[in-house]
Amino acid sequence: MLRGAKVGLRARFDEDIPVLRTELYDDVVNSSRSEAGPWKPMTPGTRDPRLVVDEKQERSVSFSVVELEGGTLIGSATLWGIDTHNRNAHIGLGLFPAARGKGYGTDVVAVLCHYGFTVRGLRRLQIETLADNAAMLRSAERNGFVREGVLRSSAWVMGEFLDEVLLGLLAQDWEPAPAR
Ligand SMILES: CC(C)(COP(=O)(O)OP(=O)(O)OC[C@H]1O[C@@H](n2cnc3c(N)ncnc32)[C@H](O)[C@@H]1OP(=O)(O)O)[C@@H](O)C(=O)NCCC(=O)NCCS
Repeated sequence: MLRGAKVGLRARFDEDIPVLRTELYDDVVNSSRSEAGPWKPMTPGTRDPRLVVDEKQERSVSFSVVELEGGTLIGSATLWGIDTHNRNAHIGLGLFPAARGKGYGTDVVAVLCHYGFTVRGLRRLQIETLADNAAMLRSAERNGFVREGVLRSSAWVMGEFLDEVLLGLLAQDWEPAPAR
């Protein structure tokens, strides 16, 4: 398990999947804001490609996020689009509504940076998020990500086109937390 100050990033367990699906994807608005595609109902027991880990897929690594104290599941985190030639990747995360606003998101980004830069030897990490997602923007910027551009009207979300912000962090600009 990877450890931050407050959260742990561990492997996905089968029993995490129904909880993650309910907490992250059942709500149409929440799901539409964090998914690139349209919300659709999903029959319980269906293999959900967003959550079931395919070990053969080398371009993506999925983690379940837990509170370090107690080990309670609080969300999901992913390093995706891993490009070993250009040595870059994207990061994504989603926390359960009750776990938001407690500093966990900022800590998850820190742990994903540690994984991307130190464990995987990547040189650049990237985040795309809706321009009105203040908590995600702040979680990224607190870890050194800088805004590199605005993707105008790039996301169709619940009846309107929204801008996305592209943020990037280079390994040489990253300041890791002292102990992990
Ligand atoms: C985005 C998300 C991961 C951020 O995690 P979080 O644990 O809520 O964020 P934190 O508690 O670490 O807060 C980070 C900063 O944002 C601020 N913040 C938190 N919620 C906020 C809100 N609703 N509005 C404005 N600022 C907010 C915090 O005050 C903090 O700022 P500070 O460092 O200056 O104190 C989480 O809110 C979430 O899962 N949201 C839904 C899914 C999502 O949007 N994922 C990202 C898709 S790219």
